[in-house]
Amino acid sequence: MRMYDLILKKRNGGELSKNEINFIVDNYTKGSIPDYQMAALLMAIYFQKMNARETSDLTMAMVNSGDVLDLSKIEGVKVDKHSTGGVGDTTTLVLAPMVASLGIPVAKMSGRGLGHTGGTIDKLESFEGFSVEMSKEKFIDNVNKIKIAVAGQTGDLAPADKKIYALRDVTATVDNISLIASSIMSKKIAAGADAIVLDVKVGDGAFMKTPEMAKELAEEMVSIGKNVGRKTVAVISDMDQPLGFAIGNALEVEEAIETLRGNGPKDLLELCLTLGSNMVVLSGHAKDEAEARKMLEKSIASGIALKKLKEFVNAQGGDASVIDDTSKLPKAKYIIPVKSEQDGIVSKINAENIGLVAMELGAGRATKDSIIDLAVGIVLNKKRGDKLKKGDIIAYVHANDLNKGEKAVKDILANYSIGNSFKDIPLVYDIIK
Ligand code: URA
Ligand code: CA
Repeated sequence: MRMYDLILKKRNGGELSKNEINFIVDNYTKGSIPDYQMAALLMAIYFQKMNARETSDLTMAMVNSGDVLDLSKIEGVKVDKHSTGGVGDTTTLVLAPMVASLGIPVAKMSGRGLGHTGGTIDKLESFEGFSVEMSKEKFIDNVNKIKIAVAGQTGDLAPADKKIYALRDVTATVDNISLIASSIMSKKIAAGADAIVLDVKVGDGAFMKTPEMAKELAEEMVSIGKNVGRKTVAVISDMDQPLGFAIGNALEVEEAIETLRGNGPKDLLELCLTLGSNMVVLSGHAKDEAEARKMLEKSIASGIALKKLKEFVNAQGGDASVIDDTSKLPKAKYIIPVKSEQDGIVSKINAENIGLVAMELGAGRATKDSIIDLAVGIVLNKKRGDKLKKGDIIAYVHANDLNKGEKAVKDILANYSIGNSFKDIPLVYDIIK
């Protein structure tokens, strides 16, 4: 087999066989296919596309390029949740303890944030002492004992994806649905998921800018799941404004605690109940979403979900007393109100730019090596559809640097559109099964 012939075949609109895809992925990962040939193939795929069978074969070839976590020692169906990335997306911090409190194993591999979207690990490190470093045995043991553990990436999961993604990034071949879908799914499958619930975000704060694109990506990932024997459900949800009110690490932890206490923002709670009920159904603990939703609502009302968060933080070395006294969380020096300069209705909040404002305050990483400030960020006070009068507070900036804080105030004002009407965008567009 020659890479040249495979590039030519795809360039001319042909279909690559499973053997050919395995050959490409194996040899590119090993380094015996050079970047320039792989780049040419990716561009051919970008224009000629791949069918569902090729996409599933590419996914499994990338899974098999490295370690596959063996979670068979964990009892029960391991359901993982993945978000395609949003601003102020606090769902994992709420969902994981909620689902685990029902006795469903949550064995989560998480990452740190890069750019304007935060990572779950960074947020969890707001609990002093919390650590995601642990042996595989401890990880499995914690899930069996208390049903929940979150670890940093261990092992060499889907190294082919890592190498291909980096090449796509510099060759303008990221935004192809088959390539995105196989990239995301390969990492989830390598992390040991039996079933997967995807939160595909749509809007200006998301990777997918239109509902049509998001639906196409969701369908592609659900189709991969079906083809490779992992039950997969995709929820398409709004990211045309930040989720909840808080954006920033410790601020989002506080928001998650409030949500588990039953005092959370409506949109955050609703999305958690939607994603969570699909996780509960896939795990086999409820017959349908309605039953699962009741179980999850009860986990909040009865306090077992909050109690599970305490057990989880404690098991990973964090100070769980923070959960009863959130004043112990890292706090910013300055809290600066952002006041509206006019009367009207909030018609739009530019989610991506608000995420960037939080990043500039220090809540996110501009580069891989940036050090983040857990305390800083933004707490919104007005969201899409809210009426306001001149002088009303639309948000609070939490800053440790007064100059940065004052710049953030201006930037937030510039990213709120205030008019006399608003378009009612649904929180959940669609659920693809
Ligand atoms: N996220 C991924 O993990 N892979 C992609 O290709 C795009 C977004
Ligand atoms: Ca939030």
